[in-house]
Amino acid sequence: MTKPRIIVTRRWPEKVENELKSFTDAALNETDEVFGPERLKAALKEADAVLCTVTDAMTADILAEATQAKLLGNFGVGVNHIDLKAADEAGLTVTNTPGVLTDATADIAMTLLLMAARRAGEGERMVRAHAWSGWGPTQLLGTAVSGKTLGIIGMGRIGRAMAHRCHFGFGMDIVFYNRSPVSNSGIPGARQLATVEDVLQASDFVSLHCPGGGANRHLINADRLQAMKPTAFLINTARGDVVDEAALASALKAGAIGGAGLDVFEQEPAVHPDLLGLENAVLLPHLGSATRETRVAMGELVIKNLKAFLNGETPPNQVRAS
Ligand code: DGY
Repeated sequence: MTKPRIIVTRRWPEKVENELKSFTDAALNETDEVFGPERLKAALKEADAVLCTVTDAMTADILAEATQAKLLGNFGVGVNHIDLKAADEAGLTVTNTPGVLTDATADIAMTLLLMAARRAGEGERMVRAHAWSGWGPTQLLGTAVSGKTLGIIGMGRIGRAMAHRCHFGFGMDIVFYNRSPVSNSGIPGARQLATVEDVLQASDFVSLHCPGGGANRHLINADRLQAMKPTAFLINTARGDVVDEAALASALKAGAIGGAGLDVFEQEPAVHPDLLGLENAVLLPHLGSATRETRVAMGELVIKNLKAFLNGETPPNQVRAS
């Protein structure tokens, strides 16, 4: 029996690449070079399934070339880089990898929160630059985290995991905004507020955990940054386009908010040039799910979805256009 032809757009952990090779005719991306539009189109014409990820902009014109492919197995939970409606029209089933990266991503949100509050990036830069002259009572004073209020925008799996860390680990009060009502957040005393503004006004730290794209593009804009406390911190591990980066850079420069911790950017890998020079911004290179364990689990989940699809079943993590 001929094996299904599979194209993987990026390098995966060896364990999951080997697993994939054991039951498919897999073309792996040995160089890990990001596919351009033409290579993505060719993949959709050649393979039965294309296993893509966040660095592949699957736009309508690219998806329209899917003459052979029937499955887009996304390595990652966020699918805002895929035009879901166009994928549907092209007869493609789309799957993603929810659940397995929840803790890793919440850990990075926590890392950013602590680094921003305690000025850890600034301190590290000072030490490496041989600019540290020794301990001082007023040196690099940060902001206390314990007992403060955390505002979560998007109380899904990752939002809850972040709330859990902050409440049980740091005694923080939790308020949150979520599009639909959340009957039980699992966090004692957590309060769902009516609007994004309500959360921004009430919080010492705001952590974004909503999907990117669509109506969430620039959800955090100049007006909403203005609504935050001048001492508050904004943490983004969701998607870069949820925040208007230019407006954020202006707010940080003007001291309109206390600081920010960002793991995602509007035009990755580019970062708004004004952010790069700001000491009150902690900037990480999209590390949310970057642990060995999590990346293997993500690959295994893509394979689980692929196997179900090849067996004629509905994949467990099918994503549908809304
Ligand atoms: C995710 O899973 O969405 C990560 O951000 C990588 O795409």
